[in-house]
Amino acid sequence: MFRRLSDCHNVSDLRLLAKQRLPGPIFHYIDGAADDEVTYRRNTSAFEECDLVPRVLAGVEDVDMSVTVMGQQLQMPVFCSPTALQRLFHRDGERAVARAAEKFGTLFGVSALGTVSLREIGAMISTPKLFQFYFHKDRGLNDAMVERAQAAGFNALALTVDTITGGNRERDLYTGFTSPPKLTLKSLMSFAVHPGWALDYFFGEAFELAELKDFVKQGSNVAVSIGDYFATMLDQSMNWNDAEALRARWGGPFCLKGIMSVEDARKAVDIGADAIMVSNHGGRQLDGSRSPFDQIAEISDAVGDRIDVILDGGIRRGTHVLKALAAGAKACSGGRLYLYALAAAGQPGVERALHNLKVEIERDMKLMGVTRIDQLQRDMLRYRT
Ligand code: LAC
Repeated sequence: MFRRLSDCHNVSDLRLLAKQRLPGPIFHYIDGAADDEVTYRRNTSAFEECDLVPRVLAGVEDVDMSVTVMGQQLQMPVFCSPTALQRLFHRDGERAVARAAEKFGTLFGVSALGTVSLREIGAMISTPKLFQFYFHKDRGLNDAMVERAQAAGFNALALTVDTITGGNRERDLYTGFTSPPKLTLKSLMSFAVHPGWALDYFFGEAFELAELKDFVKQGSNVAVSIGDYFATMLDQSMNWNDAEALRARWGGPFCLKGIMSVEDARKAVDIGADAIMVSNHGGRQLDGSRSPFDQIAEISDAVGDRIDVILDGGIRRGTHVLKALAAGAKACSGGRLYLYALAAAGQPGVERALHNLKVEIERDMKLMGVTRIDQLQRDMLRYRT
């Protein structure tokens, strides 16, 4: 069925529009996850096992949904998680997401595997920016990335801790997805039936991984799978001392992305982190891992008074955000929730995705009888099991 952006009222509509526009291997790279994708599905379905208990007659005409995380005030309690390779999905890539995030006054996370430079993004938007850091074997590259993020005025740095090796993404194995895309007969046929995407990609600006290109051949024109990249380029000896040293070197708000246990959340506090993203990388790494929502209450109870706890992954609806915040999260974030939209329609697509979520959150807050995020409390939730 042919869809237009104005017909997209939720993430799943935007997903279908993205599927129409993208060659199969690229769509499945975004849409897919590890092994049997059980964790990926659970990230969203976990919200269905918890119900909201609304309050009424609360005078809700003025709603303020702003939150403060990592010292940054956000105009809405959801932000754009860092995701890689955005110019593969739409010719404007990170530029589109940056401008849309700025319009909605929310945080934009830029990946170390981003396709637009930190310098350009830093100069482009005035709203909060987070740089997502992969700990590479190449220490020169690590140092350069920290310096560039500092010079570009990024407000926070997030070290990803759940990609110590590549997840088993079987959809990518079936489709042969690589970055940049390899020109095989099969991929050429897929490009030919998606001419809108193909014209942008082949006649647009040459694809590059902006922060990596001077350091590793994978930064430019060598096709690698993301799993191979993680397994060969990242430093598997990374430990808590390295995380602490990175925090000290960065010197600003510091976050660990990919914490799932109370024990690790406490260690994050011990090394002086300002925030953790409770995340299983969108189910793309360890299938069978618990979902962020299933873990959020116990982690928030343990460390929520000392560190900002962010729920990352599975959010598709305003009510999911409200449940996460009532359970104890300070804010929520997600990748696919705006990536389908980016692929579908660039900046207007991402704006549509953020608009839909914002409208839902506002409506749902009113229906819950709250006007500020801190009024969302645990006693407004009932778990079914
Ligand atoms: C992924 C990485 C690149 O999940 O974050 O594909």
